[in-house]
Amino acid sequence: MRICYLFILFLLVSPLAAQVSVPDWYNAGHEAHIDSLLSIMTLEEKVGQMTLFTSDWDVTGPTIRKGYEADIKSARLGAIFNAHTADYTRKLQKIAVEETRLKIPLLFGYDVVHGHRTIFPIPLAEAGSFNPDAAEESARIAAREAAAAGLHWTFAPMVDLVRDPRWGRVMEGAGEDVYLGEVMAAARVRGFQGKDLNDPFTVLACVKHFAAYGAAQAGRDYHTVDISERVLHDIYLPPFKAALDAGAATFMTSFNEVDGVPATANKHLLTKILREAWGFMGFVVTDYTSINELVPHGVAEDEAAAGQLSVKAGVDMDMQGAVYYNHLRKQVEDGAVAMRQVDEAVRRILRMKYALGLFDDPYRYNDAARERENILTAEHREAARRIGRESIILLKNEMQTLPLRKDLKRIAVIGQLADSQVDMMGAWKADGQAKDVITLLTGIREAVGKSTRIDYVNVPAIKGSDRTGFDDALKAARAADAVILTLGETWEMSGEAASRTDIGLPGVQDLLVAELTATGKPVIAVLFNGRPLAIPELAEKATAILEAWYPGTEAGHAVADLLFGDHAPSARVPMTFPRSVGQVPLFYAAKNTGRPLNPNDKYTSKYLDESNEALYPFGFGLTYTTFSYGNPTIDKKSITANDRVTISIPVTNTGQRAGTEIVQLYVQDVVGSVTRPLRELKAFERVLIDAGQTQVVTFTLTSDDLAFHRQDMTYGTEAGTYRVFVGGSSQADRVVEFSLK
Ligand code: BGC
Repeated sequence: MRICYLFILFLLVSPLAAQVSVPDWYNAGHEAHIDSLLSIMTLEEKVGQMTLFTSDWDVTGPTIRKGYEADIKSARLGAIFNAHTADYTRKLQKIAVEETRLKIPLLFGYDVVHGHRTIFPIPLAEAGSFNPDAAEESARIAAREAAAAGLHWTFAPMVDLVRDPRWGRVMEGAGEDVYLGEVMAAARVRGFQGKDLNDPFTVLACVKHFAAYGAAQAGRDYHTVDISERVLHDIYLPPFKAALDAGAATFMTSFNEVDGVPATANKHLLTKILREAWGFMGFVVTDYTSINELVPHGVAEDEAAAGQLSVKAGVDMDMQGAVYYNHLRKQVEDGAVAMRQVDEAVRRILRMKYALGLFDDPYRYNDAARERENILTAEHREAARRIGRESIILLKNEMQTLPLRKDLKRIAVIGQLADSQVDMMGAWKADGQAKDVITLLTGIREAVGKSTRIDYVNVPAIKGSDRTGFDDALKAARAADAVILTLGETWEMSGEAASRTDIGLPGVQDLLVAELTATGKPVIAVLFNGRPLAIPELAEKATAILEAWYPGTEAGHAVADLLFGDHAPSARVPMTFPRSVGQVPLFYAAKNTGRPLNPNDKYTSKYLDESNEALYPFGFGLTYTTFSYGNPTIDKKSITANDRVTISIPVTNTGQRAGTEIVQLYVQDVVGSVTRPLRELKAFERVLIDAGQTQVVTFTLTSDDLAFHRQDMTYGTEAGTYRVFVGGSSQADRVVEFSLK
């Protein structure tokens, strides 16, 4: 996506020599227009461009707080979020372009995270599809709908890598892995922004939250982050860089501190890394009131001081805090903040308004007829259903219980989530509406034959503490040929400000599992939840388990498609499921330690009361067939820098029906100048193989794939032995080795 020319910039920051390329939305012609605009703007108008306020939209319709319309009129407000629909945003845009001196159009933003009106699976689920094309497609459809509803800008993708499932926001990202995180981040940016931002069916992406928000201590939202520079650069930053390289137009700062400096005042992050090292040319917006929060963080005495720190660190736009709005003008007039700094911020913001074509036609996103035609179309629903089923993981399938026959006499469907529309969308549902959602109960009813009786029992076991509904559930189960038991979390139990210390099944769901499985009937658990759960008992007792996450508008169809075998599951675990919360953080790319686990030696790295193993490891997932791996071959035993090596492996479908395998390649750098992860995902491929057929899958690794921050913090490779593991999960056990000279 990034074209034109490359040039090398030597950094002040990381010892990296960055390759900075110019994004294709950059247009030198626009810069001249921006220069002339800047030369006639008042300071107050400039600060207005740096100000973003919410409309305080609510269910009765988008309304803006009294007074904000006056701010638009007086050119003290350049961007609005949480207002949508083509007509409403047109009304506000009209004020900006018809009633202000310079007629600078407003920018409208919204959290379109996994769909605008047609809701797709939560991003964590989509990451589990290991299908970047699917993530790109769902982002493209989200952008199409959002743009039709008057929006120019989405606050997505969230690319925060996370290794602690207690953190509620795991549902918004791609999970624990650096490489999968990079691939998904880039795919989503491509989806939202398309090939050309001037196309009115695209929106600006906003990569968030810069940076390391996912490393909140103890998984508690907004909590302190304390990680090494090496971990920051090797683990947490790469997905941001991948999003930038895919052309991301804007970045959002995070709430947390990084090495003692809150991200919103962090010049090292925002200027040294993002702009100087990476060459970012778009604009940086804060998270919601995060300039104001520099005061409780304890790095600014008051809001005025906070604003000064932020603008100097490189924050271009203040979301909702009104700090620039209240203080920046005076600070520039007093000489505390340089006009140059303000001009640069305004330039970056105007650049995006030009790129979107808003100066040519400020109403190009405000067509009510187009909105009607492009929202929740049959085609969008079909994509949500397909991507939904591609994001659901089959975790267990004893005695090939799944798929179920469609002519069973009686099926018991149990649990409150089986018929809850709102829960299927998960958090950050934008304009998603419960009434549009297909529940699992509906999906099952549509899937089975006429002669199948469905007994539904709504057991409110998630938040309740008693056994309401248990007796009816048991009765239905005893009379049934199969029990479909929905379990998990209600939608608001994950997302922002939704951290939990107990990541087991909440409420009395474990009791329900125990009683239903004791009937001896096949119990198929369908999980709806926003984070990996610690569910060893369910894993033991259920006959089959589908991890459905929150699949979105087409939830019930997507799950039923898999339950009854119209399609086969193919998704994989994007984030380790621990056995117990006490193991957290638990992730596959761990270090070996000096005393790796030895069950026979007390003084090795382990617990007294729990194993070190995951319940379901990263990359794991079953389908309705099985695969076996042959011996991998490698074309070279040794390579030099800038060289490449090719690894091939035969994969055979050993079952009775066609199936999709996600072939994964992991690398271990055996000896480094610093300790290295036991293995790291470097490549994967989704392959559809017919029953009985063998397909040879080939991967190419370059020396770039082996680079990391070495002991002296320079970025590059090291000579030595590299071990390559290929297989169907992070426990892949087919091995080849090569050396890098
Ligand atoms: C969240 C952001 C979001 C913003 C605007 C904040 O609370 O952290 O992710 O984009 O609100 O809604």
